[in-house]
Amino acid sequence: MLVNRLIQSVLLATPILCSDGFYKLDFDVRKGFNLTEVVDDFFKGIGDAIGDTLEDVGDLLGKRENGSQQVPLTNERAFYITTLKIGSDASDVRVLLDTGSADLWVMSSKNSYCTENGGSMNCDQYGTYNEDNSTTFSKNDTEFSIQYLDQTFAKGTWGQDTIELTSSLILKEGNLAVADETDSNVGVFGIGYKSLESAQDKYDNIPIQMKQQGFIEKICYSLYLTPAESEKGSILFGGVDHAKYTGELVKFDIVPINGVVRHFQIPLNDLTVNLITPVQSATTTASTLVSSPSPHPTIALIDDTINQLFGKNSKRDDNVITLNTNGLFDSGTTLTYLPQAAVDSLISKIAPGASYNSNLGGYQVPCSLRQEGNSVSYNFDNKKSIEVPLSDLVMIAGRDSMNQQQCMLGVVANDDHTILGDNFLRSCYTLFDLEDNTVSIAQMKYSDDEDIEVIH
Ligand SMILES: *[C@@H]1O[C@H](CO)[C@@H](O)[C@H](O)[C@H]1NC(C)=O
Ligand SMILES: *[C@@H]1O[C@H](CO)[C@@H](O)[C@H](O)[C@H]1NC(C)=O
Ligand SMILES: *[C@@H]1O[C@H](CO)[C@@H](O)[C@H](O)[C@H]1NC(C)=O
Ligand SMILES: *[C@@H]1O[C@H](CO)[C@@H](O)[C@H](O)[C@H]1NC(C)=O
Repeated sequence: MLVNRLIQSVLLATPILCSDGFYKLDFDVRKGFNLTEVVDDFFKGIGDAIGDTLEDVGDLLGKRENGSQQVPLTNERAFYITTLKIGSDASDVRVLLDTGSADLWVMSSKNSYCTENGGSMNCDQYGTYNEDNSTTFSKNDTEFSIQYLDQTFAKGTWGQDTIELTSSLILKEGNLAVADETDSNVGVFGIGYKSLESAQDKYDNIPIQMKQQGFIEKICYSLYLTPAESEKGSILFGGVDHAKYTGELVKFDIVPINGVVRHFQIPLNDLTVNLITPVQSATTTASTLVSSPSPHPTIALIDDTINQLFGKNSKRDDNVITLNTNGLFDSGTTLTYLPQAAVDSLISKIAPGASYNSNLGGYQVPCSLRQEGNSVSYNFDNKKSIEVPLSDLVMIAGRDSMNQQQCMLGVVANDDHTILGDNFLRSCYTLFDLEDNTVSIAQMKYSDDEDIEVIH
């Protein structure tokens, strides 16, 4: 059993913990194609960052219409920005919270890419760290080097310093890297598995040190995201917040990759499409946007044939998309990635005949799909279903020349990995347990209430 309220109230009385046993770290969610771009947008205060709203994506569409700046939305990443205080002088450093990597690194004020040091990057906006100013810093002379998928890189030295995550969680001798050469103007706070650490000699990263220093009882954290519009969230280290979900929280063993537990993936059997208004025939999506035909135009036809052959009784099964794969929970991904066959099947069920926009890397679908009540249920190992409103999976992508809203499906094809990104995680309260190697999920409930319990 995951949690036991009765046991908790007894155990809390024992002097194991320094404090509450759980720590909530709030963050802002930003989207974009690389670290620099996202953070620039965020701190320039030009409103919501790229990808946040219809106008933003509309801009992208607009640029495509004129045949330039064709960055497929499918490469878009989600970034969780939070603030840490580091060193004896407690300098504020903003970092990107990342479950997909495992190192904490911050930018040194000596970074050669900064304008102060002869480079061209403004490094002051988000806070830099000057190790010389901190009497608690010690460096261990081992080189640090990391490169992210978006080509952003950071190089520097490993060391230790005092790290304040919240006013009541101040880690001593926290392991961190100080980058004196990086083209990212913001550091990264990776909280994933040790196996993801960039260092050759694996070390105890921050979540592990939290337990070692008695702040949490178990190396685990719960992820909460707010609705798409508000773009906020929190990570709760060491605990679970019962006020943030409905129904039961169900536990799954993480499926290892080549025997090693690295990513948070669990068995995903199938999807069920629930539409308030059944789709009758091919939808006409009037569009002035450049679009290429669907790569699989015959699917709708096949579906029609099946309907004719099996009649109305097949209706219920018709709504099911079989996957029998593992779904990888990735907070750093904005969209959802499914095998091509599953995407084709989804399209045939919600918008047969929808056109594929190769510039966007996705399907244009009717915005009416966003109507309340439409949803997709994700069935995990026949043990738990999570329902995601279609309004989260169908993104408003701007307006056409007739001022009609244009929408894009936030589910794209990838035969290598099934990735459940932000547009799924916003509906799924998730507890990641890095000690037991489990992921526990429940239907998200957006709420400011708290009912937090320590995990033992
Ligand atoms: C980040 O993205 C922006 C805008 O898309 C681009 O101008 C910049 O060169 C990119 N930076 C890196 C390091 O890729
Ligand atoms: C795209 O072209 C139209 C005219 O065809 C022009 O009005 C508009 O400003 C252009 N947009 C961009 C982003 O260049
Ligand atoms: C380090 O200390 C110097 C002098 O005390 C100060 O000017 C500078 O702003 C400090 N740097 C940081 C990153 O805190
Ligand atoms: C320095 O710290 C890093 C990260 O904690 C570790 O991988 C490395 O082995 C350490 N080097 C030495 C010489 O202790």
